[in-house]
Amino acid sequence: MLKIGVLVSGRGSNLQALIDNIERGTLQASIELVVSDNPKAYAIERCKKHGVRCEVIRRKEYPTKEDFEEAIARSLQSKGVELVVLAGFMRILSKRFLSYFPERVINIHPSLIPAFQGLHAQKQAVDFGAKFSGCTVHIVDESVDAGPIIIQAVVPVLPEDDEDSLSERILKFEHRILPQSVQWFAEGRVKVQGRRVLIAGAKYGELPVNPALEKF
Ligand code: GAR
Repeated sequence: MLKIGVLVSGRGSNLQALIDNIERGTLQASIELVVSDNPKAYAIERCKKHGVRCEVIRRKEYPTKEDFEEAIARSLQSKGVELVVLAGFMRILSKRFLSYFPERVINIHPSLIPAFQGLHAQKQAVDFGAKFSGCTVHIVDESVDAGPIIIQAVVPVLPEDDEDSLSERILKFEHRILPQSVQWFAEGRVKVQGRRVLIAGAKYGELPVNPALEKF
């Protein structure tokens, strides 16, 4: 059973997808700790409902960003967390934080990176007139929404789309590719070679999700 920690800032629907798959038995992981940097995040309610341990760690309670990140890292390490999952965590983590969990911090981003990095990725896609967007799970490095890619799902952008409708279409795939990625870590199948990530035994070349989803 892979011990994971999940960092959130808001709604927590991706956290919910992890919880649901764990409860269903399709994801061999245990959420040892959820950390929210936002005391009002709805994700906290989800934790209460499902008996998941959650801590609020606020940036403003620490003099420096480094101290804030140290507090998060210490909490995660004290629970024996092996993989850190950023699920709508809206902060950029420093090299020092990442060094505590080498190649073991992953993030979900609502675009096909490197397109539309940063905030409001879905609005960026609509405004740009993209015909396809999607979502990505990647390993976090010092860049913003640009680390080595584990899996991507392609989602069409329709002429009548606005930010909300596209976000909703993309989100359905986020809820599948994030648990799938965590499961691949749990199975020890994720091999990182520089920028390239290979999932041992995965089926590549299928649309709209590459590598292909197995059970999510
Ligand atoms: C998700 O769409 C996630 O991809 C995005 O924030 C949302 C969080 O939703 N993350 C980013 O934009 C990171 N750059 P959730 O709280 O319901 O999981």
